[in-house]
Amino acid sequence: MSEENKLFKVTIDNITIEVPPGTSILHAARMIGGHVTPPAMCFYTPLKESGGKCRTCLVEVSKGSERDPRPMPKLVASCRTTVMDGMEVKNVTSQRVLDARKGVVEFLLINHPIDCPICDQAGECDLQDLSYGHGNEASRYEFKKRIFVKHDLGKYIQLHMTRCIMCYRCVFTADQVTNKRQHGVLFRGEVSEIATYIEKSLENDFIGNIIDVCPVGALTDKTFRFKNRVWFTKPEDAHRDCPTCCGKVTLWRRGNQVLRVTTRKDQWGEVQSFYGETGWICNECRFEKKDVNDWVIEGLSTIPRYSVKGANKYKALEVPHETVGEVIGRKPKLMMDIHTVSDVNNPSIDLSKIQGPATSDVFNKKQIEDKKEN
Ligand code: SF4
Ligand code: FES
Repeated sequence: MSEENKLFKVTIDNITIEVPPGTSILHAARMIGGHVTPPAMCFYTPLKESGGKCRTCLVEVSKGSERDPRPMPKLVASCRTTVMDGMEVKNVTSQRVLDARKGVVEFLLINHPIDCPICDQAGECDLQDLSYGHGNEASRYEFKKRIFVKHDLGKYIQLHMTRCIMCYRCVFTADQVTNKRQHGVLFRGEVSEIATYIEKSLENDFIGNIIDVCPVGALTDKTFRFKNRVWFTKPEDAHRDCPTCCGKVTLWRRGNQVLRVTTRKDQWGEVQSFYGETGWICNECRFEKKDVNDWVIEGLSTIPRYSVKGANKYKALEVPHETVGEVIGRKPKLMMDIHTVSDVNNPSIDLSKIQGPATSDVFNKKQIEDKKEN
């Protein structure tokens, strides 16, 4: 292989992979998948310049490269750090990383209201998943949370500024996907906020995509607001011949009613690409086409990551590749084989054939019989 085409070897949480030069640590970890992959709240592959804001993707570089094996002194943002040949990285195997991530989650939640019970993003909120997987069980913050003057963004999009984590994804989307950005970040530091100078102005043809990139419930779809919980809806891939966009969407249905239309997302929660083009959709497809006859239904969507959206839709749930065993060198304790630790889960007993309730007697008798036979 010529020097130019040489692949870089990088080891993340004891798993080695070869990747092209220029690959970020985050993308290398995504190639391995599972727990090796750091969470990412602000990075978004289709958006140029995204990443480097939220610090949830911090990792420890324990060996810089083959040429210079010194470890990096500070934790680095894996979304903005490229791999070097021979680099060794720790994610879930580093206590420093786990502690730092807990701190980051605590900071992100300092001003975030715990209004999941009334938030339309519940069930598909990255912050909800992040705090469940990486956060502390309680906050130490005792002060008042931030409040904002409400802004009306127009007929399509609802802004809840208190939920925003300042990831900038919506700003990059408006910059890169629409022909004119009409919102942005006003002010600085803890008073910074997403806003428009001109009220009701977000009506550009592709502006609805900012709803899909928002990792929290700060930007939600006014046409879906409070209509249903996402886990009660059935996601289906569908398409239409749209003159403005790719026309490939996910329909969220309840019975024959189309409650919501969104872009199709991949296992990282990012908009999928079709034929090399990111599958952004136009406002007409998203907000105006709510009749099932507007669409050609392709079938139940696959939900490629753990989510309550997959509840009761077994066909739709495709569990991602699991790496816990590979990373720690043994099966994790929590995933124990329950039959080896509990006598009352003897798999050779068919519960449907037992007369009356299944008590410990049933299992004890079976054990005695098994011992006699042996
Ligand atoms: S509104 Fe959403 S997408 Fe925009 S900066 Fe806030 S959290 Fe990010
Ligand atoms: S995802 Fe890397 S800093 Fe936010």
